[in-house]
Amino acid sequence: MNKVAVSQSPWSIINRDHTRLKHNITRSAFEVWLTIWNGPRQQWIEKNIYVVDLFAGPGYCYDEKGKRESSGSPIIFLEEILKKKQKIIGNQICIEMFLVEKDLDAFKELKINTEKFIKDNNLRKVVKITYYNDDCNLSINDILYNIKKTQKRPVFFFVDPWGLQTDKETIKKIVNLPNKKDIIMNYMLEGIKRVVGVYEKVVFAHSEDLKELNTAKRLQKFLGSAISPYQNLNQTKKHLEVLVGYCEVFNNAELNVVLFDMRHQSKNKIIYVLLHACSNNTITNVIDSIMKSEQQKNMPQRILITDAVTKKLLKKKR
Ligand SMILES: C[S@@+](CC[C@H](N)C(=O)[O-])C[C@H]1O[C@@H](n2cnc3c(N)ncnc32)[C@H](O)[C@@H]1O
Repeated sequence: MNKVAVSQSPWSIINRDHTRLKHNITRSAFEVWLTIWNGPRQQWIEKNIYVVDLFAGPGYCYDEKGKRESSGSPIIFLEEILKKKQKIIGNQICIEMFLVEKDLDAFKELKINTEKFIKDNNLRKVVKITYYNDDCNLSINDILYNIKKTQKRPVFFFVDPWGLQTDKETIKKIVNLPNKKDIIMNYMLEGIKRVVGVYEKVVFAHSEDLKELNTAKRLQKFLGSAISPYQNLNQTKKHLEVLVGYCEVFNNAELNVVLFDMRHQSKNKIIYVLLHACSNNTITNVIDSIMKSEQQKNMPQRILITDAVTKKLLKKKR
């Protein structure tokens, strides 16, 4: 990694057990997805399947000195593909990956790391990558243009921002894709809590401060219409209601949603909610049990706050 990136060390997992946990769950969910779509029952699918990582990062997690600590999402996907390489070749499947990273340094690193992994492990026949050094809310249009719209080509989406950078419109576009899809998304609860006061200042006290106006605009773009009926959002209950409102975008498209609240280990507060959405009940149940088993391993005594949301969502679906 270059000096600037390392001195900020934004990709270190030291003191970030939640990142490790997020990677464990994502790896397991991707492994399930790949097993299913590369399995004997899937003779009906076409030979191209897709992986879209909208916030790809540099490929690995690095410590303060730039030393690799563990794999980041794009390399996790490639590692899981490598484990099934022979079977994928046997089934003549091609995995088309779309990797988006806005930061130029991280983007360069991402390209070097993924290309090296592909070369070292002779994965060229199996994986084809298209890279975007851009805002994913823009590149999503080109990605969706390049994805053939058919149920026969499943897509795995990973949406993992640091903040509120995902426009609700982007999520709507993904959800409306006719393909079979699994979506893992990082819903930034902490980020919302941090800026909701500013939002209220702009909307209810008519602040004209440019920075505050931009912050309010970002929150509005992230939540879409889900925010409009809520005033005084600072209470946990209200935040969970907003989350339920947000999840309607998945429910309206007949996707099941399961949620996992990701806490800061030492501070014991929810930083974000990891959300999995897909149309297949079997996959949902498997992901649900993966999440529960990670919870048992990591924080056995606590009750998932998001369980209440999951129950509400299921009730609404019936
Ligand atoms: C949480 S990190 C991603 C980590 C990565 N998914 C992993 O698991 O290793 C978020 C990344 O998104 C990038 N980013 C921020 N805003 C973005 C945007 N609008 N579009 C694409 N990438 C963005 C950041 O530069 C950062 O590398």
